[in-house]
Amino acid sequence: MAGETSPQLDYSKVRAYWKRVRPSMLGPYMMDGFGFPASAGRFRFRGELSAVTEAIQNLGPDTAVLDLGSGVGVWTEYFAQRFAKVVAVEASSALYDVLKDRCSRYPNVTTYNRDVRSFDPDGKFGASGGFGLVFLGGLLMYLNDRDVRALLRRLIPHLEPGAVVLCRESTIQHGVQALQGDYQVVYRSVETYRNMLVDAGFDVVSVRANTAYINVQMACELIKKWKSLAPGPFQCLPIVGRFAYWGLRLGYPWNTRLIPWLSAKMGREFPRLTNHFFVLKPSLHEAAARRDASLRDVRIEAEIFENAR
Ligand SMILES: C[S@@+](CC[C@H](N)C(=O)[O-])C[C@H]1O[C@@H](n2cnc3c(N)ncnc32)[C@H](O)[C@@H]1O
Repeated sequence: MAGETSPQLDYSKVRAYWKRVRPSMLGPYMMDGFGFPASAGRFRFRGELSAVTEAIQNLGPDTAVLDLGSGVGVWTEYFAQRFAKVVAVEASSALYDVLKDRCSRYPNVTTYNRDVRSFDPDGKFGASGGFGLVFLGGLLMYLNDRDVRALLRRLIPHLEPGAVVLCRESTIQHGVQALQGDYQVVYRSVETYRNMLVDAGFDVVSVRANTAYINVQMACELIKKWKSLAPGPFQCLPIVGRFAYWGLRLGYPWNTRLIPWLSAKMGREFPRLTNHFFVLKPSLHEAAARRDASLRDVRIEAEIFENAR
């Protein structure tokens, strides 16, 4: 699986898109412009909380966290309130300004306006010596396969023993699909992600469907269809968007299983996009290689000490 399997993203277009996105709570979730109420962002955040809290339940308050592609910093702030140190990296200057402002009251947060591909985590973690949690919330889908693997491999030496890497990615049912217009993104199936993550030196501990995302995504896809049918002046998005959002919200969480199941029975794929959380740990092989490297360092230091006596 080492070869490049997905179509290539044009990173200049990815950058341009995120530079002009509206720095709201819904913007980085790709849910602006559908007429949803602002509470849709909060609903999605709350829905995701149970997956995040489950993944981080064994981490102590002295944990250092790395939040890559942190957007406006909704999760950065959440981690800042719970953990000793948070490092957040965001490439879009528009979103970075909001992130910096939001986190200015947390002395334990350090922010970097950087591309994760050139970010060097060396020396950025806490006194404990490494990161105990790395959060990649919707980042990998904006990176080519090669860069996903390179980034994940680069993280391994900076992880504490027992560290958790938590990814949240938009997914499709089969294979890989890339959008190559002004909005560039790679959608991968859960299986494709599994293979890439394993190839990058991680064990996939668990995969969990992001039901809150799927619920709002169904409303997004209905509104997209509505937009393609109704001429602009008749779209009435503030009304139709709220109607679609609340209609689906009332059936949450059962409809997130029922509707896709019924659609599949009728030979349709709805919603087209889903979203999953992946909990990762460095594979035993990587952990052993890291332990051997640190034993080697200790042996070299002991030899230097002996020779100096
Ligand atoms: C879907 S948003 C998610 C934001 C945030 N993690 C969250 O969960 O709310 C993806 C974010 O990744 C950022 N991003 C995309 N490619 C990046 C890169 N190469 N380096 C740093 N940030 C990047 C985007 O600017 C955007 O803020």
